[in-house]
Amino acid sequence: MQFSERIKGVKGSAIRELFKVLGNPAIISFGGGNPAKECFPKEWAAETARELIAEKGDVLLQYGPTEGYMPLRKAYLEKVLPPLGIKDATIDNVITMTGSMQGLDLLAKVMINPGDTVLVEEPTFLGAIQIFNIAQANIVSVPMHDDGVHADELEEMVKKHHPVLFYTIPTFQNPTSKVMNVETRKVTARLAAEYDMLVIEDDPYAALRFSGEVMPLIKTFDTSDNVILLTSYSKTISPGLRVACCCGNAELVRKMVIAKQGSDTHSPNLNQALVAEFINQGKMEEHLRFINSVYSKSASVMIDAMRKYFPEWAKFEAPEGGLFVWVTLPEGMDANEVYQRAVKDKLVAFVPGAPFYTKPGICDNTFRLNFSAEPEERIVEGIHRLGDLLKEMRG
Ligand SMILES: Cc1ncc(COP(=O)(O)O)c(C=O)c1O
Repeated sequence: MQFSERIKGVKGSAIRELFKVLGNPAIISFGGGNPAKECFPKEWAAETARELIAEKGDVLLQYGPTEGYMPLRKAYLEKVLPPLGIKDATIDNVITMTGSMQGLDLLAKVMINPGDTVLVEEPTFLGAIQIFNIAQANIVSVPMHDDGVHADELEEMVKKHHPVLFYTIPTFQNPTSKVMNVETRKVTARLAAEYDMLVIEDDPYAALRFSGEVMPLIKTFDTSDNVILLTSYSKTISPGLRVACCCGNAELVRKMVIAKQGSDTHSPNLNQALVAEFINQGKMEEHLRFINSVYSKSASVMIDAMRKYFPEWAKFEAPEGGLFVWVTLPEGMDANEVYQRAVKDKLVAFVPGAPFYTKPGICDNTFRLNFSAEPEERIVEGIHRLGDLLKEMRG
């Protein structure tokens, strides 16, 4: 069969592939970014879905507007954005999406011609790399450091390549869990204005903060309306609902709506209504307190176990939030080999670092561990087995 140029050579997502392995319940998974199942508001969702259908079934079970379910757009505009420092947006700046993954896909359709340059952090979210590859973009990157990308390196890359967009996950970045400092956030907004470059501020993890100082959004420094904020409810409420919102330039958002018409018509009404109710009933604050206490505990259980069982040459840092711990092995050690043996011999899964890089072979000695999906005893057991394997593999 003849496939399109755009799909040729684009690999399946390493994490989606991993889901196949995870069918085996014996495997301890530090793989995908799955929230803990006890963090889903199940009883509330069951009750609220029943009430919503009883009261608004005629609307919710009908086709809806592509821009999104109005009560959710309004809740995001009036209740979510102002406390984040975004006070001057209007309803035309806001649409809902089927997960922020769809936001990225729509933005790629709207912004990228084949061969256009896009700038990403290195490493970065592999779903974004996949989307930009399918859009046939020329992907260039700026390296991540302990405090995210550095402003001078970012500016140099923007000057040199004039990218159509810069994709960033400034807070608890996937996969590194690093946080961009305030100065670089300001510079990013300035570069967006100076170079008429779109900045995609992908922010699914900032609400999952269990220590440290809250950071201002890049969008709060945006003077040119060139920063678009993507807010996913996957990690905070439920990924299965597939609901996200965005706030960006009205003209850009209108183009996204046109692209979305040809993609899935609109996101599921009932799911959007559930998220709107969650926000409007004021559930989010208490829910975040609860899930952050769960994740804070899981993260420290994982970090304590890593300090105990990992060899000292495996480098990592305790995250202040998010869902991941990023590990760097000594130069020359191949995390993919570790992964193969971990799954086969130790029944432990994680994501090797390679797919988070824009090109093969850049940094094969890294891997990502997720701490939110397994109970504490399995976290300790899995880290113990992984530590043993690392020592076996490198003496
Ligand atoms: C940085 C980042 N962006 C976007 C997504 C996709 O989120 P959603 O479930 O809203 O599509 C993820 C999921 O892991 C992510 O880590």
